[in-house]
Amino acid sequence: MTQTSILVARAIFPEVLEVLSQHFQVESNQSDEVLTAEVLKQKMHGKVGALTTGSERIDAALLQANPQLKIVANMAVGFNNFDVPAMTAAGVTATNTPDVLTETTADFGFALLMATARRIIESEHYLRQGLWTKWSYDMFAGAEVHGSTLGIIGMGRIGQGIAKRAAHGFGMRVIYHNRSRLSADLEATCKATYVSKDELLRTADHVMLVVPYSAESHHTIGAQELSRMKPSATLVNIARGGIVDDAALAVALKNKQIAAAGLDVFEGEPALNPALLTVPNVVLTPHIASSTVKTRLAMAQLAADNLVSFFTSGHALTPLNQVAAKSAT
Ligand code: 8YV
Repeated sequence: MTQTSILVARAIFPEVLEVLSQHFQVESNQSDEVLTAEVLKQKMHGKVGALTTGSERIDAALLQANPQLKIVANMAVGFNNFDVPAMTAAGVTATNTPDVLTETTADFGFALLMATARRIIESEHYLRQGLWTKWSYDMFAGAEVHGSTLGIIGMGRIGQGIAKRAAHGFGMRVIYHNRSRLSADLEATCKATYVSKDELLRTADHVMLVVPYSAESHHTIGAQELSRMKPSATLVNIARGGIVDDAALAVALKNKQIAAAGLDVFEGEPALNPALLTVPNVVLTPHIASSTVKTRLAMAQLAADNLVSFFTSGHALTPLNQVAAKSAT
């Protein structure tokens, strides 16, 4: 009997690879070479399943070249690297890793907000450069976090986690904008008030972006939106590159149109708009919002469990689509 062959597209925890090896014939990539679209397409040949990260794109061309493929498990909650309609049409099950990263990512959103508003990185660079020679009354004076107004755009699980931290821990007034309004119960739990995007931009002291990427959310924040924000405001993006027009943001930061920004995600990452590197009032991190050892392990395990469950019971644990055409066996 030929063993079920799967591809693990990027390096993952050895213990998760070990579990997968007990069920499948695994082609791994522990050297963590980033695969081009062409190489990924070739490596998928003969594979019925794959474990991917946000860096690998699953599109119609790859699916057409690999009609044997049945399931792709993304090690991420976001899945804008998947063409889900094309996967559904090709009978390929798509899965992601919801829930296991919610609180960790919300923690990081808050950390980035604090670092940005309180100018932690900028002041650390100053200190390391040996420029600190005396105390002064307005040295790195930043923006207040506690008691201020936080505007959250995108009120899914992570947005709600941030709202709870803000309202309950920091006594902030939380306003939010989302495609659909939360239930009254959830609004009460999060102590969050629904407002229009325009009102949020005009009144928030800090704007936090947690909206999934789609054609609709592309450049949710561009030059026009930045011009509506308070000059004292901060902007934090832990969602996806492309939600913010990074070129417009660099100009707004340079002109002090807004006070500061914290960015964990970038248009075209890992490359980033070079103008962002020339402004001091931005905190930059390399897409690490979910990166604690425990959470990344849980994400890898859930992606692996999706593959195992699909091939042993016929059902994925956290499917993004309903696929009738191809079954596990
Ligand atoms: C991942 C993320 O680390 O889950 C997501 O959507 O953005 C991150 O947690 C990244 O996508 C790598 O797969």
